[in-house]
Amino acid sequence: MASFKAFMPFLFVVCLMVGSVSAQLSSTFYDTTCPNVSSIVRGVVEQALRSDDRAGAKLIRLHFHDCFVDGCDGSVLLEDQDGIVSELGANGNDGITGFNIVNDIKAAIENVCPGVVSCADILALASRHSVNLAGGPGWETQLGRRDGRTANLNGAMELPSPFDDLSVLRRKFRDVQLDDTTDLVALSGAHTFGRSRCRFFDRRLNTSNPDPTLNSTYADQLRENCQPGRDTFVNLDPTTPDTFDRNYFTNLQSNRGLLESDQVLFSTSGAPTISIVNSFASSQSQFFTAFAQSMINMGNLGPLTGSTGEIRTNCRRLN
Ligand code: HEM
Ligand SMILES: *[C@@H]1O[C@H](CO)[C@@H](O)[C@H](O)[C@H]1NC(C)=O
Ligand SMILES: *[C@@H]1O[C@H](CO)[C@@H](O)[C@H](O)[C@H]1NC(C)=O
Ligand SMILES: *[C@@H]1O[C@H](CO)[C@@H](O)[C@H](O)[C@H]1NC(C)=O
Repeated sequence: MASFKAFMPFLFVVCLMVGSVSAQLSSTFYDTTCPNVSSIVRGVVEQALRSDDRAGAKLIRLHFHDCFVDGCDGSVLLEDQDGIVSELGANGNDGITGFNIVNDIKAAIENVCPGVVSCADILALASRHSVNLAGGPGWETQLGRRDGRTANLNGAMELPSPFDDLSVLRRKFRDVQLDDTTDLVALSGAHTFGRSRCRFFDRRLNTSNPDPTLNSTYADQLRENCQPGRDTFVNLDPTTPDTFDRNYFTNLQSNRGLLESDQVLFSTSGAPTISIVNSFASSQSQFFTAFAQSMINMGNLGPLTGSTGEIRTNCRRLN
């Protein structure tokens, strides 16, 4: 008993630390204030998918770029305005899109429960439904984030780049307190749907300097799609472009990762990510379980909770 008492202060400190990492989000956060929020979001995402195959891909990418810069606080959504230099000026955010869908979701929610649901939580819920509607897993979305009143352009300059090698990608995941192997590989699996413009991979297509980690048959196809001056959109997953499945990983095994930052997960000699790619390629359920957990991990990054920040009325602007 005496030794347990002596241990108590340590236990208390450990609980505080765990508390600050998981930041008090909860899957029941809106149960009394906006009980139908999840199905409202799902409904608007479904609607958006009817006219835009990429709608879900756009939304989850926004959530990723939000969470990696000062945590999931809706900062990526802010336009230039008084006191705010938008993060959209960063290279990593060049061409990022989906803001209109976020506005539609926000409008649908404000109709039913005004002033209650944050834009940061909208991105988390929209990501969860986007993945699920494309055939991927579901999970209990953790909620209760507040919207920030700042943006961080310099932080956005540090977003992972398609030209980063594996050691830089791993360092950027560690920098935000994510796991640099399992979270990195699982979350990169989001490239099982959506598109990339040619500028992000066309240096791999130089015939006088062939990329040894790029499948030559696939490279020929890409050259057709990416003729000079045509910054076309190309499927990130050439096998099943709009379906959330394990084919991103089987593609890597046949050197058909589109971006260098995709292929390095499998083609960097001796890397600890290779065996993870192989297990996700051979078991979709292992991928889905890991992906759901990694999305919760990413969604937990540094959220504002309690009475910090605000609930934005317009996701693109401070109140
Ligand atoms: C690991 C480092 C990552 C890098 C270097 C990277 C880079 C990129 C690039 C260059 C594009 C194409 C953008 C364009 O042409 O406009 C893209 C698209 C996309 N990314 Fe990533 N990404 C990474 C991780 C992630 C993560 C963690 C997620 C989500 C969990 C994600 C989701 C997506 C989706 C869904 C698209 C397609 C978007 C669309 O069709 O509009 N990416 N990514
Ligand atoms: C919840 O929202 C969905 C989608 O908008 C709608 O179909 C359903 O009737 C709503 N349920 C309640 C109880 O409001
Ligand atoms: C293609 O690769 C060659 C050889 O490395 C290089 O000299 C040339 O500049 C490259 N072309 C382009 C368009 O990058
Ligand atoms: C290249 O991709 C094709 C499928 O398009 C595959 O059959 C072949 O094995 C791949 N080659 C290599 C070297 O991975």
